[in-house]
Amino acid sequence: MILAGVKKSVPLLDLATLHAPLRDEIIAEITRIVDSQKFIMGEDVKQLEQLVASYTGTPYAIGCASGSDALFLALAACGVGPGDRVLTTSYSFFATAGAITRVGATPVFVDIDPVTYNIDPVLVAQALERHPGIKAIIPVHLFGACADMDPILELAKAHNCAVIEDGAQSIGAEYKGRKAQSMGEVGCISFFPSKNLGGFGDGGMVTTNDEGLARKLAALRVHGSLKKYYHEWVGVNSRLDTMQAAILKVKFRYLDSWTEARNQHASLYRQILGDSGTPIGLPVTTPYQTRHVYNQFVIRSSERDALKAWLQEHGVGTEVYYPLPLHLQPCYLDLGYHEGDLPHSEAAAKETLALPVHPAMSTDDIEYVCEVIKSYFLNPARQA
Ligand SMILES: Cc1ncc(COP(=O)(O)O)c(C=O)c1O
Repeated sequence: MILAGVKKSVPLLDLATLHAPLRDEIIAEITRIVDSQKFIMGEDVKQLEQLVASYTGTPYAIGCASGSDALFLALAACGVGPGDRVLTTSYSFFATAGAITRVGATPVFVDIDPVTYNIDPVLVAQALERHPGIKAIIPVHLFGACADMDPILELAKAHNCAVIEDGAQSIGAEYKGRKAQSMGEVGCISFFPSKNLGGFGDGGMVTTNDEGLARKLAALRVHGSLKKYYHEWVGVNSRLDTMQAAILKVKFRYLDSWTEARNQHASLYRQILGDSGTPIGLPVTTPYQTRHVYNQFVIRSSERDALKAWLQEHGVGTEVYYPLPLHLQPCYLDLGYHEGDLPHSEAAAKETLALPVHPAMSTDDIEYVCEVIKSYFLNPARQA
């Protein structure tokens, strides 16, 4: 295809095409909110909370201003604060670690399983022994597939620490048939526009099975207040806008069909790239990851940067999630980590590449991306 001189544009994300069929519905919702002149929280937020609570199989869901704030609120609600330490993965978006620092605690970074890219429970066990008194563990369900939760939950129980699921990328994912965001003390969701359920701006949600935590979370997002102008805790302003909730309610109706499309794209990538013998690593799902939601389809190559440039030259958008692991970020230098400390995260940061997998893609788009990848490896003059 590409050798025949055809050049297509396949962006990493194409919200314009995704939103086009929903345009009238969404504009009607925006008009309704504008006419109501009620812009903060309200019935729309409550309805979205109910939808997400039942979707994640948790009795309580509480809207907030972002996925980053969801993590912050979860930690604060679990009583994590200055002097505490929290275990988390070294291979995630910065917000996972940033929330720990924002509550005044210190992150303890744990390496990943190099196959799933999620936190390695064996290393979690070792870290819990090495650092007595860990207050919480934040596993991240990276790229849309769940971390290995059972051993993590068991370890947390034995060490008396809370489990906060960072499910920013994983709404709808399942672990052994259990819903992401329903297994730990608190689950965290992001509605950032690029997420599987993305708003027209920032937004987030926390989920929990615990009534007491739900009450505290609901208070913490409005300055720790359960009754107006009376404050039980010092919270923050992290409310979800009415307009975002109204838009997200429309998009929620399409979420499962979009997830299905993401899974079909992933299967086609696997089929074409797997059969072609192209020397790249394809994402591996383990049997416990009973539903992957493919927020990202991440391949692996020792020639990642050159392959990325080749794809870009041929109109294919890709992204590196993430080029520098959390333990080596400049702001965490004082924690004393060095290159080589968490080798699987460091290797992944050098070799992984996210391909377009958004629901608005066509079969032709996927085939084109695969052709471009194959042509890269067939090019004898390539500069790896
Ligand atoms: C793993 C992870 N955690 C947390 C967040 C933060 O979410 P938000 O951008 O809504 O603050 C993100 C968003 O990119 C994420 O990918």
